[in-house]
Amino acid sequence: MNRQILVTSALPYANGPLHLGHLVEYTQTDIWVRYQRLRGHECLYFCADDAHGTPIMLRAQREGISPEELITRMHQEHSRDFADFHIDFTLYHSTHSPENFEISQELYRALRAAELIEIREIEQAYDPVAKIFLPDRFIRGTCPRCKAPDQYGDNCEICGATYSPTDLLDPVSAISGARPERRRSEHYFFQLPDFQDFLHHWIHSGTLQPEMANKLEEWFAHGLSDWDISRDAPYFGIPIPDAPGKFFYVWLDALPGYMAATLHWCRQQGRDFGMFWGPDASVELYHFIGKDIIYFHALFWPALLKGSGHRLPNGVFAHGHLTVNGAKMSKSRGTSITARQYLEHLDPEFLRYYFASKLNPHVEDLDLNLEDFLHKGNGDLVGKVVNLASRAAGFIHRYFDGKLGASLGPDQSFYDSLVHQRESVGQAYEQRDYARAVREIMALADQVNAYVDREAPWLLAKEESRRDRLQQVATCTLNGFRLLMTLLHPIVPKLSERSLAFLRCSLDWDGVTHPLLKHSIASYEHLLQRMEKSQVDALIQPSETIPASAPEIPTDAFISIEDFGKVDLRIARIVAAETVAGADKLLHLTLDIGEEKTRSVFAGIKSSYDPAQLVGRLTVMVANLAPRKMRFGLSEGMVLAASDSEAGPFLLSPDSGARPGMRVK
Ligand code: 2FM
Ligand code: ZN
Repeated sequence: MNRQILVTSALPYANGPLHLGHLVEYTQTDIWVRYQRLRGHECLYFCADDAHGTPIMLRAQREGISPEELITRMHQEHSRDFADFHIDFTLYHSTHSPENFEISQELYRALRAAELIEIREIEQAYDPVAKIFLPDRFIRGTCPRCKAPDQYGDNCEICGATYSPTDLLDPVSAISGARPERRRSEHYFFQLPDFQDFLHHWIHSGTLQPEMANKLEEWFAHGLSDWDISRDAPYFGIPIPDAPGKFFYVWLDALPGYMAATLHWCRQQGRDFGMFWGPDASVELYHFIGKDIIYFHALFWPALLKGSGHRLPNGVFAHGHLTVNGAKMSKSRGTSITARQYLEHLDPEFLRYYFASKLNPHVEDLDLNLEDFLHKGNGDLVGKVVNLASRAAGFIHRYFDGKLGASLGPDQSFYDSLVHQRESVGQAYEQRDYARAVREIMALADQVNAYVDREAPWLLAKEESRRDRLQQVATCTLNGFRLLMTLLHPIVPKLSERSLAFLRCSLDWDGVTHPLLKHSIASYEHLLQRMEKSQVDALIQPSETIPASAPEIPTDAFISIEDFGKVDLRIARIVAAETVAGADKLLHLTLDIGEEKTRSVFAGIKSSYDPAQLVGRLTVMVANLAPRKMRFGLSEGMVLAASDSEAGPFLLSPDSGARPGMRVK
C-alpha cells in the first residue's frame, strides 16, 4: 500500500555557510526520502532557513545591512549548495515567512488559551551601550570556579562548570565590551512541567532511538522546568501577539517552521494542511536531527504540538557528529570544509556515497577519513560498478549493433538471485542502515564482477562461433549494472540517472525483475570520473593566518626584544566611532589611552562593526606609530585586529580588569 510521509531535516541558521558537518544530515535524510519515492510512496521533504535570533541580527549589523538582506543572501547560498549536493527538497522555505508568522502566532494563541503560558518578571544582563538584553553566550568573564578568564556566560571551557551569567566574575558584554547591568523585564514561560508524565511515556514509545530516550532520562531525573519563550526588543523575530516589545525566542518559531513550510506548499498545491498536522493527521511524520538538538525535538516540540492541539511525530531520528581525519573540524587545520569548497574540487556524489557507507540507525559520530574516502569512492563506484558498464557496452556495440540479447540463457537464475537480494537492501534503507545497504550492494557488485571474470567475455569475443554466448554474458552484465544503479539511486541519484539513460530504461524498483532483452542501449559515454589524490588533498586548506603548528621563521627574520620594545602597545577605550564620508572601509575612532589628549585613528574595520556598538569597548592600539596624513585627516596610531581570507577583522580586546593607557608587553 502506498504510504504518505512527511520528512524534515533541522533548519540551518541563516548566519553562515553550510559545511560538511551539515551535509551529513541532509544526505542522510535525502537518501531516505529518495528511497521512499523509489518505492512509490508520496514522500514530502520540507526544510527552511532558521532566520531569526540575536546572532543573525548582530551579524547583519556588523555587515552594515538589514537582517532581511542578510537572510535573503543566505537563503540563496544555502539553496544553491543544497541543489548542488542533490538534496531534493519538496520546498526549502524560511522561518521569516508570512506562513511562519501565522503558524507560530496561532500556536502560541492555542497554548495561551490552554493556560500553558505564564508571565513573570525576571532579571537579566543588559548591555547599556548596545542597548540590548544579552543572551548568555554574549557575556564573557572570569569563571567563578576555576577563575579562568574570558569564559562564556553559561559555562567554562576550561573546567566545564555550568553556571548562570550572574555568577561570572568581572562580566563584560561580548558586543560592546561594556559591563552588563541587571535589568528586570516580563518574560513568557511555556509550562513544560505540565507534560512531564505524557513526555516520559512518549519518549519510550518507540518514537526515539533507545540511546536518545535514555539520554533524556537525565532531564526527568531533575524534573522538567518551564521554558522561557520570549525575548525583548530589539530582536529579529516574530512578535508575540498582544505583547508589545516581546518576540518569540528563535526556537519557538524554528520548530513551527516545519509546519509553515508545509502550509506554504499546501496552499500552492491546493492540499489539506490538516491531513499533515491536524490532530487526526493520517500522514506519517519523521524528523531527522543532530543529537545536540534532541532536547528541543523530543521534549519541547511534542509538548508544544500536544498543547496546541496538533499531531505528534512518528519518529525523531538523531545522528552523530562529523569528524575529519579523526578530529573535530577545525579552521586552523583546514578541516572545516564548506559545502562550496568541496564542490570546487569534487563530485558531490562521492561524498554522499562515503557518508552512506558510514551511516547506521545509531547515534554514532562518523569520521571522514580522506584517504579512505578516496579509495572507497574510486574502488567501489568506479572500480566495481561503472567499469561493468564500460566493459560490457563495448561488446554490445562492437558485435551486436548496440542491441541486448533475446535471453540470458543459462544465466537467468543467476540474475534472478541477484534481483532477489534487493528486498534486503530495501529493508536496510528503510531502517536507515545505509552502511548495510552499501555493503550488500557492493557484495552484489562483487558477484557480477566474479561472473564476468568467470565467463571471460574477452575470450568469447575471439571465437566467431560463440557470439550468442558473448551477447548473453554482456546482456546479463548490463542487467546486473542496471540493478546496481537502481539500488544505488537514493545515494548517487545523478550517476544513477546517467546510467539508466545510457541503458535507455527508467528507474523502476520492481521493473528490474524483468531483464532488459532485445533492447537497444545508447553509446557508452563516461559515467563517472575517478577522483585524483590531488583533488582530495586540495580540500584541506589550512588557514593562512592561524598556523596549525608554529610557523617556520628564518632566523634572519627574527626581531630582537629591543626591536619589539620599540612598539608602544596600549590599551585604548573607544570613546567615539563614526563612519567616514567617502570611505567604504574606514571608521574614524577616537581613543582614550589614559593621556590628556585622545587619539584620532582611521581603522579599516567598517565591514565588521557598527560604529555605535564600538563605543565604550576596550581594544589595543599602537600608540607610537608615526602619524599619517590621510585623505580624511590625520591618523595618530593603529588599532589591532585579526582577520583571514574568510572572516574578520576582529578587534582585539583585553581581559577584564585592563584599563585605558596600560602598556601591552
Ligand atoms: O541547531 C540548529 O542549527 C537550529 N537552527 C536547528 C533548528 S531545527 C528546528 F527546530 F527548526
Ligand atoms: Zn572554570
